[in-house]
Amino acid sequence: MTFDRRVKIAPSILSADFADFGREIEAIEAQGADWVHVDVMDGHFVPNLTFGPQMCRAIRPHVRTVMDVHLMIAPVDPYIDAFAEAGADVISAHLEAGPHIHRTLQAIRGAGCKAGLAINPGTGLDGVEYLLDMIDLVCVMTVNPGFGGQKFIESQVAKVKALRAMIGDRPIHIEIDGGMTPETAPLMAAAGADVFVAGSAVFRGGSVAKPEVYGENIRAIRTAAEAAL
Ligand code: DX5
Ligand code: ZN
Repeated sequence: MTFDRRVKIAPSILSADFADFGREIEAIEAQGADWVHVDVMDGHFVPNLTFGPQMCRAIRPHVRTVMDVHLMIAPVDPYIDAFAEAGADVISAHLEAGPHIHRTLQAIRGAGCKAGLAINPGTGLDGVEYLLDMIDLVCVMTVNPGFGGQKFIESQVAKVKALRAMIGDRPIHIEIDGGMTPETAPLMAAAGADVFVAGSAVFRGGSVAKPEVYGENIRAIRTAAEAAL
């Protein structure tokens, strides 16, 4: 993975057909996805359950871009090696998932992955400052984690602006997750984000039989975000 701040669209397979992940991933990548976002939920840190490292391992051969694994689980540390071995390129853990996020981030890089720090809408940037030298990405949640299809929380725009200033020249991606559409993505692009996770807005109306709809949806978000730069 090389670093750049160009707009990247990361469809979340949370909105894909769960019976057909391999072909869904191939379809979104063929239609212009830059990264593939994988939402791991444990029914404890968030009120929903999805999948674990075995599923990540199974889909890995279908991912040609970047496998971006968002862990919404607590505890995190016992599972880091399993997700790294499953082929994750980026592993994001939540600041709120436990008392020792510093150790967690060390373990993610130690396992050979890029380290992402995810923060909930109610979390400020205080806890991010002393972690900047050990992260490759900050994932700013613009919904409360757990479900796709929720409404974008507008108050997070100011947070992203402040985060962008805090990051300065460091090679750290700002990823936005939740409620991304062609209407909301430009607000975050202007604020300094470069990775745009989108579930429902990418998969809506399409299927593996109608992949061109994924392409239209991805292009609509990308074009809107780039126009705000
Ligand atoms: C929410 C997940 C998101 C979700 C986004 O907990 O982390 O990645 O899939 O879905 P949309 O784009 O539908 O808000
Ligand atoms: Zn996510």
